[in-house]
Amino acid sequence: MKILIAGGSGGIGLALVKACLDKFPEASVIATHNKHQPDFFHEQLSWHLLDAINEGQVTSLAEEVGSIDWLINAVGFLHNKSGQPEKTIRKFDPDFFSESLQVNAMPSLLLAKHFQRNLKQSKHPMFATVSAKVGSISDNHLGGWYSYRASKAALNMALKTLSIEWQRTMPKCCVASLHPGTTDTSLSKPFQSNVPDGKLFPPEKTAGLLLDVLQKLSSEQTGRFWSWDGSEIPW
Ligand SMILES: NC(=O)c1ccc[n+]([C@@H]2O[C@H](COP(=O)([O-])OP(=O)(O)OC[C@H]3O[C@@H](n4cnc5c(N)ncnc54)[C@H](OP(=O)(O)O)[C@@H]3O)[C@@H](O)[C@H]2O)c1
Repeated sequence: MKILIAGGSGGIGLALVKACLDKFPEASVIATHNKHQPDFFHEQLSWHLLDAINEGQVTSLAEEVGSIDWLINAVGFLHNKSGQPEKTIRKFDPDFFSESLQVNAMPSLLLAKHFQRNLKQSKHPMFATVSAKVGSISDNHLGGWYSYRASKAALNMALKTLSIEWQRTMPKCCVASLHPGTTDTSLSKPFQSNVPDGKLFPPEKTAGLLLDVLQKLSSEQTGRFWSWDGSEIPW
């Protein structure tokens, strides 16, 4: 089994790398980092530099790694020094919106475009992306966070559309959108104060739960949105 994890340097991404090595001791894991390579090594793990919004880099990686069975994308963006999720439309900023769309929605499209050949040889190919429940339109009861919500909704639409195309061209593949639950990473750090007790997961717990969800999926369940506990989230 060969698993590629994009965004393997993030809080959830690195935990997924470690959980895959643990859960599938026979697997080779290919992990990507962007700004920094984590100080974690394993004989069945290889690190590759990838700016996931750079199509040239995605193409080169696809050519380099050959066939794979699972691709899990854990790249994502919520805030940076100059931009925070918007509480009101008055705070909407076009640059922040563009960055949110680029980092949250575009990598899965580029990875799908360039890795479909790599996945095609697998008996049970899986293409999964860590999305977020706030990207569900029907589950939006609180409002706010315009750019993040819209970028995750765009991601979800892209995954659903991909699942329809691949049902024709790669019928064994399962395309999955995943909600990890609120997880203790740098992405969620500024927003953790209101999280109820027991609802802030350590990344290791999240990674284990997400792999449990993925292991139970087959191509018959392609094109759906799954929560960390295995329940389905409406689009
Ligand atoms: N943590 C939560 O509570 C939570 C809840 C719901 C959904 N999520 C989703 O879970 C995913 C992982 O989030 P996290 O909490 O693990 O956040 P994180 O620790 O901030 O990790 C984000 C990852 O994205 C990478 N990244 C950003 N821009 C990139 C680019 N252009 N190319 C390649 N990699 C890039 C980062 O790498 P560099 O830092 O090297 O750029 C990092 O590895 C995200 O999609 C997030 O929206 C998280």
